Amino acid sequence: MRIDIITVSPELIKSPFEYSIIKRAIDKGIVEVHFHDLRKYALNKYGKIDDYQFGGGAGMVLMIEPIDKCISQLQAQRSYNEIIYMTPDAKTLNQQMANKLSSAENIIILTGHYKGVDQRVRDKFITQEISIGDYVLSGGELAAAVLSDAIIRLIPGVLGDETSALTDSFQDNLLAPPVYTRPAEYKDMKVPEILLSGNFPKIEQWRHEKALERTKNIRPDLEKS
Ligand code: ADE
Repeated sequence: MRIDIITVSPELIKSPFEYSIIKRAIDKGIVEVHFHDLRKYALNKYGKIDDYQFGGGAGMVLMIEPIDKCISQLQAQRSYNEIIYMTPDAKTLNQQMANKLSSAENIIILTGHYKGVDQRVRDKFITQEISIGDYVLSGGELAAAVLSDAIIRLIPGVLGDETSALTDSFQDNLLAPPVYTRPAEYKDMKVPEILLSGNFPKIEQWRHEKALERTKNIRPDLEKS
């Protein structure tokens, strides 16, 4: 998979790709991530990429021309399955969306800033708009990093143990059950007996019950979706 991220602040978004599972996926050649500084496509030598909004109002809007130039240059080199715009006024990211995107060959992620982008960018280029939650960030960079991480770890070969993504929270619309490790007892706090029993069908049943219980208490909305 290839991910092209278009941003006003490339330095802000790079570090999440330099550690742990995501770095290993890049090192193994399973995924390529490229960052494109929107200012390189600016209208003038001062790096102009935004302007006041028509009709008045506070906040600058990213202009269509630099974005058009950047996306068109990428599209001239390969075709893209999706061109995604990170914005709070969109559908909220969930595990199903990440699953679907993890089988794409090439995707572009455009991150917004200030008041967002000229609506014509959204109308002409964007195939999917994604929010990471009902709150507003200063820019879409962190949201793009969250989306990329959620997608990359699902690509086959990225996680060492193939089954570990299957037992994540949300894969079956349930939160994950509690987990424990050594020691079996710490300051009077004991690991549930069943997990030490070696009775794996019973353990699976216990985990399922705990997952249901957690989901019911914390995210009852998931049971209905
Ligand atoms: N940009 C600013 N806030 C955002 C959010 N919640 N999700 C995606 N992109 C954003």
